[in-house]
Amino acid sequence: MADLVRYELKDGVAVVTIDNPPVNALAPEVWGQIDEAVKRGVADPSAGAIVLIGAGTTFIAGADIKAFDLLRTPADSMTRSEGTHALLKRMEDATKPLVAAIHGNALGGGLEVAQACHFRVATKDAKVGQPEALLGIIPGAGGTQRLPRLAGATMALEMCTGGRPVPAPRALAAGIIDHIVDGNLLDGAIAFAKAKAGAHEIRKVREIVISPDGVQAGLAACDAMRASLKNTAKGMAAPYAVVSAIEAGLTLPFDQGSVRERELFADCVVSTESKALRHLFFAEREVAKVPGVPKDAKTNDITRAAVIGAGTMGGGIAMTYANAGIPVLLKDVDRAALERGLGTIRRNYDVTMSKGKMTAEQVEKTMALITPTTTYDGFDQVDIVVEAVFENMELKKTTFAEAARVTRADCVLASNSSTLDIDEFARASGRPAQVVGHHFFSPANVMKLLEIVRGRETGKDVIATSLKLSKKLGKVGVVVGNCFGFVANRMLAYYMREAYLLLEEGASVEQIDRVLTDFGLPVGPFGMQDIAGIDVGARIRQYLASIGKSRAEGPQSAIPDRLFEMGRYGQKTGAGWYMYDAPGSRNRTPDLLIEQLANEEAKKRGIVRRPIADEEIVARIMTALANEGARVLEEQFATRPGDIDIIYVYGFGFPRQRGGPMFYADSVGLSTVLSRVNEYRARFGDYWEPAPLLGRLVAEGRGFYGESALT
Ligand code: 3HC
Repeated sequence: MADLVRYELKDGVAVVTIDNPPVNALAPEVWGQIDEAVKRGVADPSAGAIVLIGAGTTFIAGADIKAFDLLRTPADSMTRSEGTHALLKRMEDATKPLVAAIHGNALGGGLEVAQACHFRVATKDAKVGQPEALLGIIPGAGGTQRLPRLAGATMALEMCTGGRPVPAPRALAAGIIDHIVDGNLLDGAIAFAKAKAGAHEIRKVREIVISPDGVQAGLAACDAMRASLKNTAKGMAAPYAVVSAIEAGLTLPFDQGSVRERELFADCVVSTESKALRHLFFAEREVAKVPGVPKDAKTNDITRAAVIGAGTMGGGIAMTYANAGIPVLLKDVDRAALERGLGTIRRNYDVTMSKGKMTAEQVEKTMALITPTTTYDGFDQVDIVVEAVFENMELKKTTFAEAARVTRADCVLASNSSTLDIDEFARASGRPAQVVGHHFFSPANVMKLLEIVRGRETGKDVIATSLKLSKKLGKVGVVVGNCFGFVANRMLAYYMREAYLLLEEGASVEQIDRVLTDFGLPVGPFGMQDIAGIDVGARIRQYLASIGKSRAEGPQSAIPDRLFEMGRYGQKTGAGWYMYDAPGSRNRTPDLLIEQLANEEAKKRGIVRRPIADEEIVARIMTALANEGARVLEEQFATRPGDIDIIYVYGFGFPRQRGGPMFYADSVGLSTVLSRVNEYRARFGDYWEPAPLLGRLVAEGRGFYGESALT
């Protein structure tokens, strides 16, 4: 067996080093080897104390998340965790001071191992956390029992439900760590351990007694947390399980509380919620691996940028760069357009400031990074130009030709187009290898997705640079192919088609939006369109009509175009699918006019409107997404189903606990999805044609994720 844990003696102290790159995850063998090494330290007459430390850049980033796939039933989990709990108790019972020396991260099982040590020391920049709930599970190695004893129930509840890591200074103040080491961590830890050995000091966290007042306050904090989770953890089970486990820790002796923790963990680890969240954890890391673009592909540093177009998207993109500390030129045709754009940017920052997320000084510093301009002066200095002008092919082509003329040959030329053909811009620029799509999602400074659109001639270095840049901008970059609407909007056209048709068939705008927000989306299709602007879609439809195409097969509802003709563009005009208090207001009320339009359009198409069940709304819309997603995959416009899931989670707020539209389809069962497509085809027409990939997978008895994702 590989040596994942090293044992050595240093200055009379046993040093146990966990060395399982890249993050020292606790694979099953690592647990065993830590156990052996601690036992050896206890038995070693030359060792007065034991220090546990991580090799490389971190302490321990937690249990090995992949290993949870092996736990098929709650009973599997109960057996496994019984062993882990016993192992940690053995460590805690060591008769020599056992000190965890933390640098980088002590997360999940990593912090639980540290809590089973008698003391914890850390570097100043280290972080500790219990992020399990973000994976749909709870701390399962004693964290819900030891952390409240160590840091109090309120802190434990915050850390275990929210999952956000805590920096060392705060952890010190909370009692989670005992000392911050300045200078060399191992030397500091050894000195600390020797001092404890000299004083014969050992402290077992599990033996800390919480006072009756502490218990009462803790139970009240549990109630308060449950109430607040109704808003912050809608549709999730794990954060509630965390509260139950901590509650058990407050009311039961350690061993009984631990059994309750293990039971709750066992239920969570086999849940679809946890499988979905674990899937997303790895999918998010997979997206950075792009076929044909080696890990060590050449990249350029992006230190200066320019954005052309100071509208809603351009302004949001400029903010994104400025927020990342990158100076950005913001160009528009005239002063008036720039003033409008800057006004919106200023208002956005004011809102951020009013929420306490930025200070006035930070806002001024960030705004100072955005330089408005009506000329191309300074464009020869920038490393990237992002075009964000109107969605008009000719205008964009002219913009690319101009941008290529005024920039250096190695400057990346990116387009924020949400639909148009990148290759046409590439040709217009005369520098096709430098041209790439950078499709941001609205609001660009908030949404985490960046669709990186690979044109026919886009250089590998430009793709690699885009991926690196997306991280710097705080985005998740997903490389997609150059088809109409790319991946996100191509699939969205089918989602919207079904929403419009369901409206014509008898559902209401409010019902459809409610059903989808109940499903877990932050906003339903109509609310979303009122935010994005009904005019945007209408202009795309006009362009498509001019070249004889449509966005999705099947009947095209006339209602959105009728709203467009009435000047009802959504929130910005004070009316769209809903009525708003005033232009720009978010306060909405239903509008009977929509019902009237739906009746008229239904009549024209010979549809007898009927009550529609909520279940049909979810089934129709999600089936449309999965079927088109299958086509996107088959045509290789997305590399993996996980890429589509990440696009929907970060671009549209698809509920994480459902894993994305492709994972969700697997959880429903692809044979059910296929039979729905066939049923809709029989009911509505041939535009509901099953994607060939869907048929093939069902015939093979597989899902988008093979056989394993949900078993
Ligand atoms: N298990 C398995 N693999 C892991 C892992 C883990 N706990 N943590 C990270 N990895 C892998 C990643 O998949 C990635 O693999 P790849 O290179 O093949 O894509 C590699 O390690 C590096 O990870 P990142 O790309 O995320 O590296 P960063 O430096 O950006 O981030 C990190 C490091 C902050 C530690 C981040 O990886 C992270 O948050 N990890 C997960 C932490 C976590 O959730 N821990 C709890 C696990 S559950 C648990 O402990 C249950 C317990 O209560 C019993």
